[in-house]
Amino acid sequence: MPEAAAAPRVAVVTGGSRGIGAAIARRLAEDGFTVHVVCHSALDAGRAVVNEIEAGGGRATLHQADVGDEAAVADLVDKVTAQDGALHVLVNNAAVIDDQLLAVTSTGRWERVLRTNLTGPFLTCRAVLPVMLDQGWGRIVNISSNSARTPGPGQSAYAASKGGIESLTRALAVEVGRKGIRVNCVAPGKVRTEMTAAVADRLGSDGDGTRWGLPEDISGLVAFLARDEADYIQGQTFTVDGGRMVMRSGPGRRSR
Ligand SMILES: NC(=O)c1ccc[n+]([C@@H]2O[C@H](COP(=O)([O-])OP(=O)(O)OC[C@H]3O[C@@H](n4cnc5c(N)ncnc54)[C@H](OP(=O)(O)O)[C@@H]3O)[C@@H](O)[C@H]2O)c1
Repeated sequence: MPEAAAAPRVAVVTGGSRGIGAAIARRLAEDGFTVHVVCHSALDAGRAVVNEIEAGGGRATLHQADVGDEAAVADLVDKVTAQDGALHVLVNNAAVIDDQLLAVTSTGRWERVLRTNLTGPFLTCRAVLPVMLDQGWGRIVNISSNSARTPGPGQSAYAASKGGIESLTRALAVEVGRKGIRVNCVAPGKVRTEMTAAVADRLGSDGDGTRWGLPEDISGLVAFLARDEADYIQGQTFTVDGGRMVMRSGPGRRSR
């Protein structure tokens, strides 16, 4: 059945107020989704994304929620389904980074990163599953990072959270694969956003010949994984890094 013939599908994008999440929200709206943009502290930025989508003729609603807060996540899903009567796509994009060498990382800082980056996706997945199971159709796209495989110094918490989200992707895919739900993961390389602006300015192209990515380099694949056409793709993690990973690991690898 062509997607255009159906009622608009409903997508939730966590961390949709900035960077990669904002690009994903804009792209899904362009593709005809009703988009629920979830921000945490940057309400103005979230509002700007929603306004931009609406100005372009799309449908969007702003929510403020901490993805690591169980009650807030349950409330978010209740609001989305009360408004639109469905929830087809969940993009777990919200994350924090807090680099520090493991030897001096406090338990509190470790737990904050894991709470947002890994417990958050667990809570959102668990909250949307009853809706998706009822529909017999759902798409979950988790956002990981190359840091899961090639972390820099100081990234133990961030890398562990991203390794965790990739394993969570595979484990959930096994559980829901026969129920019409697809769970996949996109692992960006270096993308110029507020999260990485300071590093991007300091490193330039980082000497390896690959450019810094744009949020729109990531949003296209996320949008594809949200479509009917992605039905045969399950439990996978896709690296989107302009070739950085293969260039780093090949025999002709340049030193940094
Ligand atoms: N940029 C890169 O180079 C890069 C590379 C690899 C992977 N990634 C991944 O791509 C995703 C997006 O990264 P980005 O660079 O676009 O990040 P960003 O610009 O720092 O934006 C992070 C987003 O997450 C939201 N957020 C943070 N903590 C939250 C919480 N507790 N509850 C709800 N929302 C929360 C923020 O909301 P507020 O603004 O409202 O606080 C913001 O919208 C992340 O998963 C990141 O790990 C990024």
